[in-house]
Amino acid sequence: MPAEAVAASLGCGNPTALAKLQPGEIVLDLGSGGGIDVLLSARRVAPGGRAYGLDMTDEMVALARENQTKAGVENVEFLKGTIESIPLPDNTVDVIISNCVINLSGDKDRVMREAFRVLKPGGRFAVSDVVIRGDVPAEVRRSMELWVGCIAGALQETEYQDKLQNAGFESIDVEPTRIYQVEEARDFLTAAGLDADEIGPQIKDKFMSAFVRAKKPAAACDCPPGGVDLPCCR
Ligand SMILES: C[S@@+](CC[C@H](N)C(=O)[O-])C[C@H]1O[C@@H](n2cnc3c(N)ncnc32)[C@H](O)[C@@H]1O
Repeated sequence: MPAEAVAASLGCGNPTALAKLQPGEIVLDLGSGGGIDVLLSARRVAPGGRAYGLDMTDEMVALARENQTKAGVENVEFLKGTIESIPLPDNTVDVIISNCVINLSGDKDRVMREAFRVLKPGGRFAVSDVVIRGDVPAEVRRSMELWVGCIAGALQETEYQDKLQNAGFESIDVEPTRIYQVEEARDFLTAAGLDADEIGPQIKDKFMSAFVRAKKPAAACDCPPGGVDLPCCR
C-alpha cells in the first residue's frame, strides 16, 4: 500500500481482514477516507470482483483516487456521496464494509436502510465501529471534539442491534475487538476540556471498537403462481 494511504487511515478496526472477502465479490466501503480499506478489499476480491469507496468530501475522494493510482489497483471506483443516500442501485453489493464512520452519521437508521437496500439478498454487513456498553456521561456526548475523534456519536451495543434489525437484517453479532482503557481516554478528555480524573472512572470499559456483522436475508424462494402463502410471495 502507498505510505500516504496508510498514513491517511483513520479507522478503528480491520474490516477487510474480518469480512472474509472472496474473489468475484462486489464490496462497498462506507466513508472510505484515504481509501486503504478499498484498495485492500480490491485485491481480495480479484479476479472478477470490484471495490467501491464512498465518501462525502471532495478532498478524501481525491486523496483516495491518488492512492489508487499509486497502488496501481484497477478494480476500484471512488464515489462522492453520503452514506445516508448511497449512489448505487438496489441489490448490487455482496459485502458492505466500513471503518469507524457509521458512528459519525446523524441519521444512522437511514444508513442501515441504505446498506440493506444496496446489498444483494444474502449480502453481508461487516463493519468496524466504536460501540458503547451502558450509559455514558452527558459531557462526553456533548463534546464535538470527541465526536470528530470517532467516539461521541457512537451507538450503544443494543441500539446498534435494534437499528440493524429494524432495517431488515438478521444474524446480527457485535464482537469487541478492543476495549478502550481509561488511561487511553485521558488525552481525548483533556483535549476536550474535560476533567479526565472525574470522567475517566465513569467511562471505564464502556467504549470499544467492535466488529459488527449482519446479513440481508437470502431470497426465500421464487414465488410460484398461486403460492401466496409463502413468505416470499407476500
Ligand atoms: C474517521 S474517518 C474514517 C476513514 C476511513 N474509513 C479509514 O478507516 O481511514 C471518517 C470518514 O468518513 C467520511 N464521512 C463521515 N460522515 C460521512 C457521511 N455521512 N457520508 C459519507 N462519508 C462520510 C469522512 O469524510 C471521512 O473521510
